[in-house]
Amino acid sequence: MATIQAPRGMRDILPGEVERWQALEARIHDLAARHGFREIRTPVVEHTEVFQRTVGEATDMVEKEMYTFTDRGGRSLSLRPEGTAAVMRAYLEHGLRQQPQPARLYYIAPMFRYDRPQKGRYRQHTQFGAEVIGSAHPAADAEVLVLPIRLMQSLGLTEIEVRLNSVGDAVCRPRFLEALRAYLRPRAAELCEDCRRRLERNPLRVLDCKREGCHRIAQGAPSSIDHLCEACAAHLEGVRRQFDLLGVPYRLDPSIVRGLDYYTRTAVEVFSGRLGAQNAMFGGGRYDGLAEQLGGPPTPGVGFGFGMDRLLLALDGEGGAPAADRQVQVMVVTIGPAAASRGVQVADRLRGAGLRVETDLLGRDLRAQLKHADRVGVRYAVLLGDDELRSGVVILREMASGEQASVPEEGAAAALAARLAAPPAAGKGRWR
Ligand code: HAM
Repeated sequence: MATIQAPRGMRDILPGEVERWQALEARIHDLAARHGFREIRTPVVEHTEVFQRTVGEATDMVEKEMYTFTDRGGRSLSLRPEGTAAVMRAYLEHGLRQQPQPARLYYIAPMFRYDRPQKGRYRQHTQFGAEVIGSAHPAADAEVLVLPIRLMQSLGLTEIEVRLNSVGDAVCRPRFLEALRAYLRPRAAELCEDCRRRLERNPLRVLDCKREGCHRIAQGAPSSIDHLCEACAAHLEGVRRQFDLLGVPYRLDPSIVRGLDYYTRTAVEVFSGRLGAQNAMFGGGRYDGLAEQLGGPPTPGVGFGFGMDRLLLALDGEGGAPAADRQVQVMVVTIGPAAASRGVQVADRLRGAGLRVETDLLGRDLRAQLKHADRVGVRYAVLLGDDELRSGVVILREMASGEQASVPEEGAAAALAARLAAPPAAGKGRWR
């Protein structure tokens, strides 16, 4: 019988790779704290309408990419395809507006999209996202959007291309959409089937259609920036000023309309030269109408979502995200059944003292245990036989040099800690 594999587009992250994730996550928690953001965790599933109403019925995400199912109680639930609507749902549900405003929230969470998998695009991916909810000020846009830029810079990713646009608001968007329809109608025959269907209902989606023909037509389309009302134009100016204050280089790009319907005003996408076709590192923007779409009071918000899988791809082969040091340090090696029993207690005590310790679980003989210690890469073995049991000592063996020293059992943790604090010896005389 063939062995079962993980679902297509979903990956296992094995030991060896997982350390890079842990290091990146630690860096993100640290960065977010320095910027005054606090973590929020929402369920992996939401009521389907959370996304239907906000991301939009006529978007690829809702039409084609959601993992939607009916639970045993007959409710329609969906695996979270994105974080913003879920975070806003939680903000409204728990009355977070009663707390100091704006709320500054971030998450590191898996997202699920039934898309065609390729390098950098998965059916389960993980996003680092942050949202500032409760401020309509352009400083909020820059405040949250600078976070992922600082993250990339701190990781040595300097080829960053920030593309900024404004998609307007409820005042000016209708005018822009009318101009867009007027441009698209005579070209409808050249559009793909999806776009022809969306032309009247949601013409903005034509602008981010990935198909070649639609993309060509989109390039000549009227731009939202030319149709902004006064307030939206002033907001865009404000964001640009804030970016300048922070030294964030950016380019105005009217083609950035984002694939989700909830955006108002600011829309941003950031690219890295290090990635291929799937080169959007993060995307985000403002969503001042989202709270109302979920039945809440008018509440402005702005944020971003950063593809962590893509970030790690871009860093591949680089020292950018240093792996956290979780390497096992010590192997307890025992000879004979009495020593094996004592070894269990010795290991337990060493672990209690903060050391990273492994023991033999296969009943190996001395030689095989030492060979295993070598393969695992511990710096020290703690040797324990009947002689040592009788005299209450253990032998510390430095694996690289083969040097051994006998120390009282109760002093072993301190002796090991002191030795481990010193730089490792050169790799001579390894056990064979
Ligand atoms: P999004 O542009 O759909 O925005 O996704 C954000 C980021 O997630 C992308 O720039 C990309 O790096 C990563 N990403 C998206 N899909 C995949 C995939 N299939 N495989 C790997 N990585 C992927 C949002 O989700 C919004 N919620 C962002 C936001 C937050 N806007 C305001 N606040």
